[in-house]
Amino acid sequence: MDSNDLLPPGILVHGSPREIGRHFAAIALMQPVDRTVDGVICAPRAAPELAARGLARCRLPVTSLRDPPGWPDPPAQTVANWYIKSPEHIGAPAGFDELVQVAGEGFGTWPHPTTLLCLGALGLLPDGPAIDLGCGSGLLAQAWATTRGPVTAIDIDNRAITQAQSSMAHAGLDTRVDFRCGPIGRLLPGALGTVLFANVPPIAHHEIMAALRPNGQTLLMSGLRVSAAAPILDAYTHLGFRIARASESDGWGCWVLTHPPTATRSRSAKKGNNHR
Ligand SMILES: C[S@@+](CC[C@H](N)C(=O)[O-])C[C@H]1O[C@@H](n2cnc3c(N)ncnc32)[C@H](O)[C@@H]1O
Repeated sequence: MDSNDLLPPGILVHGSPREIGRHFAAIALMQPVDRTVDGVICAPRAAPELAARGLARCRLPVTSLRDPPGWPDPPAQTVANWYIKSPEHIGAPAGFDELVQVAGEGFGTWPHPTTLLCLGALGLLPDGPAIDLGCGSGLLAQAWATTRGPVTAIDIDNRAITQAQSSMAHAGLDTRVDFRCGPIGRLLPGALGTVLFANVPPIAHHEIMAALRPNGQTLLMSGLRVSAAAPILDAYTHLGFRIARASESDGWGCWVLTHPPTATRSRSAKKGNNHR
């Protein structure tokens, strides 16, 4: 028996707007598609595994509905204060920042552990213009555009750029993001940003290191298993980056790396020389 057979076609979660907001992390997993005076209607069969988890966690009363109230795609879920949703899901309650994803073929529509780790770490990053290197479906770029500021989003895969652009338009943020399709090695040198997101495979990290002029950037780095990360972390450290934070999920890692601005480095290097 698969989890679909265990779930009703629809679920009405009963609660006031305040109660719904308080339990929203569980309700988001059940795929909320409509609000009524009684609460929120969910379409659990659109994402059975997530919905089963949400139903098990939900502390509000629920009623089963006979007909599916919709098939939202991609599925919704929350991570930290982010609510990732399709255009068919209800909007975010107070306390959540909304990220809209349309269906498509870009990596990240069904968020990978590394994407979720990066989203959870965004709050640790300083303000500044950002560059999303290998933006995939555009979740990280959209998160930055919605809460912080302008972003340049780069991906080699035209399908990812198309999907990210369409999601950004649904979120009303398309004017805050400069999309560029092509390889990181060619596009990074012309892009302006002090905050870099790089949730990409190891080979693309080497491309970044070859193209980057390190000078005061903060780099949110992922795309690697913790067990395989040492050579990449060593190579960034060799360029002058230091590891400020590290997190892990399901064996995947995510690191915040910081590089001191060149002026500060040469001043402190001179200071160091004076002490010799
Ligand atoms: C692991 S996915 C991450 C997507 C997104 N950043 C996220 O966090 O969900 C990596 C993305 O990097 C893109 N990519 C890989 N190598 C690249 C390269 N050399 N230049 C540009 N994009 C690249 C892929 O097309 C893919 O969309």
